[in-house]
Amino acid sequence: MQLARLSRPFWRGGTFRTWATRCWRRSWVNEARPLGAMSPSAGAGTNLKEVFREKIEPMHKQVVELREKYGEEVLGTCTVSQAYGGMRSVKCMTYETSLLDPEEGIRFRGYSIPECQKLLPKAKPDGAEPLPESLFWLLLTGDVPTDAQVAQLQEDMRERARVPADVLKILDSMPHEQLHPMSQFAAAINLLQRESAMAAAYANGANKSSYWEHCLEDALTLIARLPEVAARIYRNTFHGGKHVPPGQLGDAHDMGKRLARLLGFESPEFDELMRLYLVIHADHEGGNVSAHAVRLVGSALSDPYMAFAAGMNGLAGPLHGLANQEVLRWLVQLRQRLGDRPMTTENLTELCWQTLNEGHVIPGFGHAVLRKTDPRYTAQRQFALKHLPHDDMFQLVSKLYEVVPQVLEAQGKVKNPWPNVDQHSGVLLQYYGLRESQYYTVLFGVSRSLGTLASLVWDRALGLPLERPKSVTTEWIREHFHKQPMKA
Ligand SMILES: CC(C)(COP(=O)(O)OP(=O)(O)OC[C@H]1O[C@@H](n2cnc3c(N)ncnc32)[C@H](O)[C@@H]1OP(=O)(O)O)[C@@H](O)C(=O)NCCC(=O)NCCS
Repeated sequence: MQLARLSRPFWRGGTFRTWATRCWRRSWVNEARPLGAMSPSAGAGTNLKEVFREKIEPMHKQVVELREKYGEEVLGTCTVSQAYGGMRSVKCMTYETSLLDPEEGIRFRGYSIPECQKLLPKAKPDGAEPLPESLFWLLLTGDVPTDAQVAQLQEDMRERARVPADVLKILDSMPHEQLHPMSQFAAAINLLQRESAMAAAYANGANKSSYWEHCLEDALTLIARLPEVAARIYRNTFHGGKHVPPGQLGDAHDMGKRLARLLGFESPEFDELMRLYLVIHADHEGGNVSAHAVRLVGSALSDPYMAFAAGMNGLAGPLHGLANQEVLRWLVQLRQRLGDRPMTTENLTELCWQTLNEGHVIPGFGHAVLRKTDPRYTAQRQFALKHLPHDDMFQLVSKLYEVVPQVLEAQGKVKNPWPNVDQHSGVLLQYYGLRESQYYTVLFGVSRSLGTLASLVWDRALGLPLERPKSVTTEWIREHFHKQPMKA
């Protein structure tokens, strides 16, 4: 498989430099993957926990060796501007499940989104998008799973999936109109926490070396329950509390279809959209707000429920996951402001400037790390071209792809004028009838559990310590660099 991937002509997908970087990265990824040493075809079995158990020791050994060899090398530096500027580009943490290249976008365990779409198992008989459980397997173990491995994981998840009745009752009694769906979502995760295996094991004096097992246990249970939690919030908030009983889900065996049906959607195309959605939003390396919050809170040995709830509070910010809600609101407003005028470059340019002059960002454009069009945007665009090429809102999004980067370039501040994942997701959801944009970030949150919790299991397996970077005051900086007395 590696040979097939490397034998593609280098010019497919970029310049010689991109190709060379990619080759270097791949060799790094493969060398760095003790995981590849035990491929599924080598008879690794179908039990995720047992497959993962085998991965820990070689990975741990590798980390020890790297620390012995390169422990004193400088990984990154931090300037005063970076300290004030959100620590952009400061290389100061490790994160195993995914890596983000500014030009090329995300790779899950070394695989790009198109490669994942090609290689990961799909729904039988004719699914085209990867199964979300297969991505979780990949993120956790580094291996592309077999059909049998995914089937067993799905069965395990189904057994864990039912949310306790009293938790549902509390969700039903929340003030749905006043409480944002993300607040309900974070509250629900904290409510589920009382069943944490990690918290119970810690309270019972579990050995440190077993933490990962309890963390994995919690990760699997939480991921399995999130579709029902998310759907409950949706049906309570927007459909008068009329629920689809999980007992009536029939053959909804995978997480994507289960989520779609619980939300109340029946179309196989929407099932596919949910699968794609859950896969592409899952992970975006370790420094983004939600992933880092999960890592940070988990490093205090707060259990996975606590850690994930913290991440979801971060995802709810408009500069992060809430941007998908903001994008649809902005598109609808743009449509209204356009009125009867045609969707021309001139008219859209004028309206984009209006947004900027009102002191707002254009949601769905720009990124803290990416410097090209987000491949997650491209994957959704391809889905739209296949399933809804003539949708009016998709036409608008397509036209904005031509217009907004030019406007942002002309404004002269933005480091990346290209669209990100959030620019496209709402348009797909609204096409199938999920029009309540305040809800969109909950779906993002369900997806993000796959990446951040897989990573959290590795944190405990590797015994990563409490995170505690050093901060300084502005006075400290002034004294340190100007040698001035701090106080008169
Ligand atoms: C994602 C985002 C927060 C990254 O922020 P960042 O790393 O600080 O980005 P930059 O370094 O390019 O920002 C430089 C300037 O351009 C502005 N800028 C960045 N993206 C912009 C956008 N889409 N529209 C208008 N202005 C933007 C920033 O606000 C900043 O302005 P300031 O100097 O007045 O504070 C930013 O691009 C943004 O706000 N995008 C819109 C929200 C969004 O889509 N978020 C989802 C991200 S996946």
